[in-house]
Amino acid sequence: MSYPTNRMRRMRKTKGIRALFQETRLSASDFVLPLFVVEGLKGSEAIDSMPGVRRHSLTSLIHEAKQAYSLGIPAVLLFGLPKAKDALGTQAYAKAGIVQKAVRLLKKEIPGLVVITDVCACEYTSHGHCGVLNGKEVDNDTTLVLLQNIALSHAEAGADMVAPSDMMDGRVGAIRKALDKDGYNDTLLLSYAAKFASAFYGPFRDAADSTPAFGDRKTYQMPSTNAREAMREIQLDLEEGADAVMVKPALTALDLIARAKHRFLAPVWAYHVSGEYSMIKAAGKLGWLNEEAAMAESLLAIKRAGADRIITYWAKEAAKYFASA
Ligand code: PBG
Repeated sequence: MSYPTNRMRRMRKTKGIRALFQETRLSASDFVLPLFVVEGLKGSEAIDSMPGVRRHSLTSLIHEAKQAYSLGIPAVLLFGLPKAKDALGTQAYAKAGIVQKAVRLLKKEIPGLVVITDVCACEYTSHGHCGVLNGKEVDNDTTLVLLQNIALSHAEAGADMVAPSDMMDGRVGAIRKALDKDGYNDTLLLSYAAKFASAFYGPFRDAADSTPAFGDRKTYQMPSTNAREAMREIQLDLEEGADAVMVKPALTALDLIARAKHRFLAPVWAYHVSGEYSMIKAAGKLGWLNEEAAMAESLLAIKRAGADRIITYWAKEAAKYFASA
């Protein structure tokens, strides 16, 4: 039966009718807010390449997290910028390191907030790579020990969930084993499972001071051309004990979010990354598009593709937007 019996426009006639037929919805509880915390910083500072996002001191971090939590955002994802870097990224697992301090403070000040920590070495290594070098290569198995130490130090500080973003082979299993051995059986593990070597991390590397000093991340992060390989990465991480898996970036991998959602029963999260955020911000500033509408459309597309949760720098704005949309 077709036109004129069927008229699709009937479902679009008024705002109320459109709302009644809306298939995909978002609210504050869909979002996770990434936060940058800097050792020794006073106050907070703007990030040029990410308008609206700031690097935080411990004090301003708590303020920002409280705001997010009061808007209904259930979780934050923490990234730390240490004062000193070295070849082995030792500050990443320091007991009194910046992330460890931030986790303790967040859990004390906002007990209900779920605290997730990014587990990676690139903000802590002098060379900016996500692991320990052997010559010019990132050595997989040595890096696993480093990652175990980082994850353990985060769990000790009270992190609810650790999120390895390094893309080494076997890291999920290695971290799970280390956590369980020390009694952290309940610490959740979110794996950046299908993480692509992407140009869209550019602004983040500015923000986190984590640009590799030489080469690129293509020997560990995935090529964006490979969908079946992405499913294998996810499968392996689930076998190794990941509680939830992530696809990253989001907008250039909507097909993979959808595929992963169909294929696996585990929660599939998506990271709407810095470049995806900043390009809309930039176009919005130039007056080339409506920033708020572009934000909403992007986030809804990620949800429609199948993302169970979305990590986004827009979490606070989006929580407000969708509360009144
Ligand atoms: C650390 C890490 C990166 C991002 C999250 N964790 C950068 C990278 O892999 O180079 C990117 C996040 C973003 O762009 O918003 N490995």
